[in-house]
Formats: sequence, C-alpha cells, structure tokens
Amino acid sequence: MIKTDIHKAVKILRDGGLVALPTETVYGLAADANNEKAIAKVFQAKNRPQNHPLIVHIAHVDQLAEWAIEIPESAYQLADAFWPGPLTLILNKQNSVSPIITGGQQAVALRIPRHPLALAVLREFGGAVVAPSANQFTHVSPTDAQAVQTELGTAVDFILDGGVCEVGVESTILDLSREEPTILRPGMLTPEKIVNVLGRPLGSLQASQRVVTPGMHKLHYAPLTPTISFTEYSEILTALRNQPEGKAIVLTLNESLVEHENLKMIRMPDEPQAYAKALYKTLRSADESGCHQIWIEAVPTTPAWHAIGDRIFKACGRRE
Ligand code: TXA
Ligand code: MG
Repeated sequence: MIKTDIHKAVKILRDGGLVALPTETVYGLAADANNEKAIAKVFQAKNRPQNHPLIVHIAHVDQLAEWAIEIPESAYQLADAFWPGPLTLILNKQNSVSPIITGGQQAVALRIPRHPLALAVLREFGGAVVAPSANQFTHVSPTDAQAVQTELGTAVDFILDGGVCEVGVESTILDLSREEPTILRPGMLTPEKIVNVLGRPLGSLQASQRVVTPGMHKLHYAPLTPTISFTEYSEILTALRNQPEGKAIVLTLNESLVEHENLKMIRMPDEPQAYAKALYKTLRSADESGCHQIWIEAVPTTPAWHAIGDRIFKACGRRE
C-alpha cells in the first residue's frame, strides 16, 4: 500500500511494523530502533545477513547522546553543517544500543535525513528508526515508492510516498570512531566539504579494512542483468560481434551515439547531481526491460563524480 499518511506510518512503527520511508538519498525500510523484534523483521524482509549493521535515523542532534558515547566536537560541527542531510556518522555506541543494530560492532551509525516526510515521521514518532535502503540485499536501492513495492512487496506494512529521492545515491558514511575521520562509503556530500568543516585531512581505508567493512564488498547496488562499464564504444561493438543476439542498454554521457539495432542508448545527465538522481531509476528500468547487458560509460574521476563512479563500479561487481 503506497500512501502519504504520516500518522498511519507512525502508528505502524509504534506497533512494531515496517514502514518504507522516503529520504533525500534513497527510500529506507524503517523499524523502531528500540524494538528488537521489529528490527529482526527488517533483516528478514531484505534477506540481509545479520552482521550488516543498520543506520539509526534520528530527528534531532540532541538524540546523538542517547545512542553514542565519546562524541567528538567534530560530530556536532558536522551535524551543524550538514544535518539534516546525506551524511552518516559512525560513533562509539552507548551500552544500551542493541548489537542487532550494530552487527556486534562497538560503533553505531547515525544520521538525520532531510526529506520532509521522513523528518515529520521521526518527529511525531519521537524515537529513532533503523532504516537500511528498502531493497533486497545486494539489489539497487529504490528511489521512488513504486520501486520499493517491486523490491519488498508484502514484506513491508506501509510505503510512505515521498516522490522521487532528491539525491539518488546513499549517504556519505564518515567514521568518527577512528583516530582519523575516515570515509567508509562515498556519497554526494564530498570529502572537500567535510574537510572544510573539520579543518583537518581525512584518513584513508587500508586494503585490509576495506574487506571487513560491511557494505563495501562488490555485488552491492547491483542490477541482476550483467553490467559492464566502458570508456570506448568500440568495446561494446566488439562484444556485440561476439554475441550478435544480445540486446544491450547503454548509459552514455556523450552525444556521440552509435547506431545499432541491438543497442538502446540512454543519454545520462552530464552534471553529477542530476546523474546521481537518475542512476538507480535508469538501472532499474534497464534491468526490468529484459535486455542481456547493461553498459555504463565511465564517468569523470573528479571528486564531484566519486560516489557515482563507486556505485557504477559496484553495479558491475558481477562481472569484474
Ligand atoms: O542514505 C542512506 O544512508 C540510506 C537511507 C535510507 O538513509 N541508508 C542506507 O542504509 O544506505 P544501508 O543499510 O543500505 O547501508 C548502510 C551502510 C552499510 O554498508 C553498513 O555496513 C554501514 O552503513 N554501517 C552501518 N552501521 C555501521 C557501523 N557501525 N560501522 C560501519 N559501517 C556501518
Ligand atoms: Mg543498502
């Protein structure tokens, strides 16, 4: 059921049900963060492994201290600058935070989303909700209510329809529980903006840490159709010669399109914000079209495109 009724959404959360909530990044699958039974349903609905921790969504920065300890001043500076908005902070957790939320880790992820419906629900609810992206584990995150319905069907009690998500890819995750603040997942909020507020450089993830950080492995954010990134059109034409029957959808950035009966070209926006907003919807409809392959033209490597490049890399995880 897709609706816009905030009171109904809050009632379902209070009753331990699951509500799909629009946020400015992607839709989240929300459950009461203080109700372990409700949280267990989130893992079930998504087919998500238990060791993948969930982000706790709050309405107000005052709630930080209910969930985290040893909160550095920088957390409040960043909250001031970017919340509500697409930034998730990792902080050492309060003892009371359920290990089901943190996947057994000593740190908890927190954010205040900026979509007005998400904020309205959180304010009326009064507590906090866990909200992973409202998709099946490893699938592409939903950026509209219909996509949530397709992903979760009857596993979700209520879908709050907040239209198309403004940002389109998941929040930037910044770990403040380490010696040096470190980005665990790039988002449209760029390192430059974070560094401007922090006034000091960010740490970098070692290769060994990358492997153990949940949600960073390949196969995340992936369409079911084999997806390949390319820089030259000749790569696609070579593949077509080898597999002449295959229909492919090509997400391009450039005007220079190739004409071929087995190729459908989709011109993507050449500006990163607009590209991010369109990416998951485009991947989802390509996936649903029944094509044999999805080709994605490599995007620029400048910081503004970093999160998009990251999601394209992960979408191609099945092949690379
Ligand atoms: O934009 C977003 O962040 C969306 C919207 C709905 O808020 N949520 C989202 O949640 O993307 P999810 O569960 O799909 O991704 C959360 C990521 C996972 O990769 C998880 O491993 C990481 O956050 N995470 C959560 N808690 C963590 C923790 N304590 N330490 C390290 N990583 C954590
Ligand atoms: Mg997700």
